[in-house]
Amino acid sequence: MPTPINVQLAPQLKAKPDQTKLGFGQHFTDHMFVMDYTEGTGWHDPRIVPYGKIELDPAAMVLHYGQAVFEGLKAFRTEDGRLLLFRPDQNMARLNRSNDRLSIPPIDGDFIIHAIKELVNLEKDWVPAEPGTSLYIRPYIFATEACLGVRASYRYLFMVILSPVGAYYAEGIKPVRINVENDYVRAVRGGTGNAKTAGNYAASIKAQEEAKEEGYAQVLWLDGVEKKYIEEVGSMNVFFKVNGEVVTPELNGSILQGVTRASVIEVLKSWDLTVTERRISIEELYEASLNGTLEEAFGTGTAAVISPVGELNWGDKKILINNGQIGEIAQKLYNTITGIQNGSVADTFGWTVQVETVKA
Ligand code: COI
Repeated sequence: MPTPINVQLAPQLKAKPDQTKLGFGQHFTDHMFVMDYTEGTGWHDPRIVPYGKIELDPAAMVLHYGQAVFEGLKAFRTEDGRLLLFRPDQNMARLNRSNDRLSIPPIDGDFIIHAIKELVNLEKDWVPAEPGTSLYIRPYIFATEACLGVRASYRYLFMVILSPVGAYYAEGIKPVRINVENDYVRAVRGGTGNAKTAGNYAASIKAQEEAKEEGYAQVLWLDGVEKKYIEEVGSMNVFFKVNGEVVTPELNGSILQGVTRASVIEVLKSWDLTVTERRISIEELYEASLNGTLEEAFGTGTAAVISPVGELNWGDKKILINNGQIGEIAQKLYNTITGIQNGSVADTFGWTVQVETVKA
């Protein structure tokens, strides 16, 4: 039996935002989940409380040394009013891998899924129904002990907040222009690249800003040692279709093990397409573009699901992909995965988990 979750209801509910203008991560629901960790006691006091400010000691270790991990998953509203989560077990497994890398104590994934279901159920009116929308679920953990010594904290806070979202990129499913990053690197093997930790994202912002200034939506990250091999695009995993074969960088320790990445690989295999996880150099992609075999490129992530790449800028070389149009595979993957998520395509993989049934 999981520990009972104490529920304190918000005295007043907020007005819901216009579902056609949600954007990403701008609105937050009425309640949040919170749980404490204290060395010796373990995780304790799971509770759902009104969404609001939290008190943090100025010496809280997360503010100084960045011991923080997070996850991102979504709840979808089906046409017949059911609420579905997509592969939450995968997020919990990755959260515990991130915890391990950041020396944060493990959480009980099943209990957190139970807590997320309780919270989403309480906030069910916040799950939008417009096409392309969902309720983004952000679980996160950070070090709260007041101490300036460099070591693992003895205290943590685990929180889950919810945000109704539309498309991640203003461009929607339209292909984006990407700059191949030659100076900054996102991660190196042995570092924290395969953990979903705040510092990875902090370190990526400068390159993203510079790319934006040059008119690009995001950056394509190369490996941190040779700056030759493709790692990720923006905050997403990346796939290419070259000469009829789908390829994606192999998980090498510095690449995030994306839930959408894993799902894309399984869906492609179910279509009898060849998917190869291997090292891919930027030079190889450039050659493929010259000889006309670079057919598609797209990013994959929870937030954007599938984000087609229309153009890569590599120094003074421009790589135009599929004439800047969305590729057939990217479009089909987008339709299939979002369809499974929102219940309009049969979930033959058993990936969706129902939160509750709302009577029509
Ligand atoms: C995702 O798409 O899975 C992400 O992690 C993006 C998020 C940091 C907004």
